[in-house]
Amino acid sequence: MKLSKAKIVDILKITEDINHIKDIDSLLDRILTEARHFTGADAGSIYLVRRNKLSFEYVHNETLEKEDASSNRHIYQKREMDINSHSLAGYVALTKLPLTIDDAYRIDKDLPYSFNKSFDKQSDYHTGSILTVPLITSRDHITGVMQIINPTDKSGSPATFSQDHQLLVSYLAFHAAVAIEKAIMTREMILRMTKMAELRDSKETGPHVNRVGAYSIEIYHRWALSRQIPLDKIKKTKDILRIAAMLHDIGKIGVTDAILKKREELSEAEREQVKKHAEYGSRLFEDTSLEWEDMAAEVALCHHERWDGRGYPRQIKGEKIPITARIVALADVYDALVSKRSYKDSWDEQKILEFIRQERGKHFDPGVADAFLSITDIIKAIQGKYPL
Ligand code: C2E
Ligand code: SIN
Ligand code: SIN
Ligand code: FE
Ligand code: FE
Repeated sequence: MKLSKAKIVDILKITEDINHIKDIDSLLDRILTEARHFTGADAGSIYLVRRNKLSFEYVHNETLEKEDASSNRHIYQKREMDINSHSLAGYVALTKLPLTIDDAYRIDKDLPYSFNKSFDKQSDYHTGSILTVPLITSRDHITGVMQIINPTDKSGSPATFSQDHQLLVSYLAFHAAVAIEKAIMTREMILRMTKMAELRDSKETGPHVNRVGAYSIEIYHRWALSRQIPLDKIKKTKDILRIAAMLHDIGKIGVTDAILKKREELSEAEREQVKKHAEYGSRLFEDTSLEWEDMAAEVALCHHERWDGRGYPRQIKGEKIPITARIVALADVYDALVSKRSYKDSWDEQKILEFIRQERGKHFDPGVADAFLSITDIIKAIQGKYPL
């Protein structure tokens, strides 16, 4: 590959673009897409440094995705590695230098690192050439590591990573690292805000909010694919929908603890107080004009509306309810039923699925319910990533 002027212009445009992505998962998805696009790589993954470990955060694998086209399930797996020189990713995190391997199965025995064959074995995949680059924002700070695998040449035949590939991907990684740190901060701020809004000392709020965010974008993805919405539009919407969905109950900040923490069933007057959280939430985003804030406002306001018009606060019905809110409504109720709350026990999975089928066309948009019911494997994987 030659480093053409066009390629460099492309890279500049991408680094500008990625600074506008808000959600950390959308960002990792985009970075891997671009790194693979520039090298023809079949697969790739990103690890982020968390609590002195390398935590596996995102993966692409075109070959395996083709075999299992139905599913984004693999992106929710959870895995951690120690940061030491035995793994390729660990070695790169320590040295903060890129590393190119021509053949994963022929790494010199004298080198400190070796290739971990367990992934290949588990998934029946064959790893050949591997490029691992550090995600660093400065010489003394490592954010994570990006690894891409199995490049192809112009004709689509297997190849090895070149010096130019290494240079280009390292450059992309440097800009990516800055954007990643920003997006992580955004995610953490949202989690802190929602914790403050809900039961102040609740350990469940964080995972609940993470799960509702993740279910919502996956339901949307399936719903949108079956309506021929173009993929780039889908990705843009997912970027802000996750944030809007995570903030659905932010209006609970205006509801007193005494009600939110009550262990018994609420009185009629107390229920009326709780119901106000929808309007309180939407008011937080009033007088703003950013796209994600508009979406956050509509989700907060409408996530307790029902398809049949018997919800609250405005009792609007059907497609008058924004699609974002119709999706979050299902994601939220599903997760409330899966979880044990101060006032209720958790339900078993069969009972919940039955309930959703039964409420299809009543509480829930039938199209949204169908999308949900066709991705229950992904929904389960999300629960594994953010356990109850
Ligand atoms: P949440 O706990 O996140 O529940 C969200 C929605 O899930 C509820 O909206 C309801 O539609 C559904 N849901 C939750 N638990 C059950 C259940 O046991 N059976 C059925 N069929 N559906 C359920 P809803 O009712 O508008 O409540 C909004 C919020 O008000 C709840 O959020 C919760 O924070 C609070 N809340 C509602 N009822 C009670 C209660 O009896 N005690 C307390 N302490 N809080 C309550
Ligand atoms: C892994 O895929 O588990 C780690 C690959 C490596 O960096 O050795
Ligand atoms: C909780 O997560 O325990 C608070 C209830 C809610 O999410 O609405
Ligand atoms: Fe709510
Ligand atoms: Fe909720």
